[in-house]
Amino acid sequence: MEKPDQFRELFRMQKALNERSRTRNTSEPSRDFHPMPPAKRTIRKRATRSPRRPLLWLVPARWRNELSRVLIPQPRIAARVRQLARQIESDFAGRDLVIVSLLNGTVLFLADLIRHFSLPLRLDFIGVSSYAARTTSDELVFTKELRLDVRGRDVLLVDDILDTGRTLKRVLEKLRRLRPRRVKVCVLLEKRARRVEKVRADYVGFAIPDLFVVGYGLDFAERYRNLPFVGVLRPQRGGGRNRDVR
Ligand code: IMP
Ligand code: MG
Repeated sequence: MEKPDQFRELFRMQKALNERSRTRNTSEPSRDFHPMPPAKRTIRKRATRSPRRPLLWLVPARWRNELSRVLIPQPRIAARVRQLARQIESDFAGRDLVIVSLLNGTVLFLADLIRHFSLPLRLDFIGVSSYAARTTSDELVFTKELRLDVRGRDVLLVDDILDTGRTLKRVLEKLRRLRPRRVKVCVLLEKRARRVEKVRADYVGFAIPDLFVVGYGLDFAERYRNLPFVGVLRPQRGGGRNRDVR
């Protein structure tokens, strides 16, 4: 090909690419999630380093009335869960692991965590709940008992969030009576400021401030568990500080 022809061909390809990305951008659904009117959006876009990254931190339009912000976006959770799994797997290498998970808040976290494991493991659940109308962890009731035999075995206890520590204290007491070889605790979140009982987790996904959070398994009145990110519930929706609700 002659040089001018090459340039013409390159120019034509570049033009086609530009056209393609222009038409793609206009139909991008994430644009609907932007909280700002278009005029302001242009200014904001120029000020940010990457125009795509901030979208992760935006509350999807569907949830904007109920959640004030995204605290931990999905990719961050995924990366941290992968790290935790690697650490747990090396700590339990060569052992026959029993994972005991607390219902219902651990559903998403547990499912993502265990798919990274290649060590042999068994899985069981303990159901814990408090009476709906009451508020303190003292009213704890066990809605499902452990079925697997953990005697002499390595146990990983998984929970969604370590708050006051009352739940994990009760569950650990119960579990230790079954004489496992050792018990390690893994939680997705912990609120250190709210600790009442002397309980510590061996593996913590994220330490968070004293805020009521929902999503990625965590609920408020059994809602929001399906959200793929962790978000902060608006105070008028029941969120805020120092809640004592399971
Ligand atoms: P603790 O007994 O006070 O440690 O409470 C632990 C339980 O309280 C968790 O398993 C959750 O079910 C619930 N919980 C505590 N803080 C939150 C929150 O911010 N969002 C949703 N549930 C929470
Ligand atoms: Mg709960």
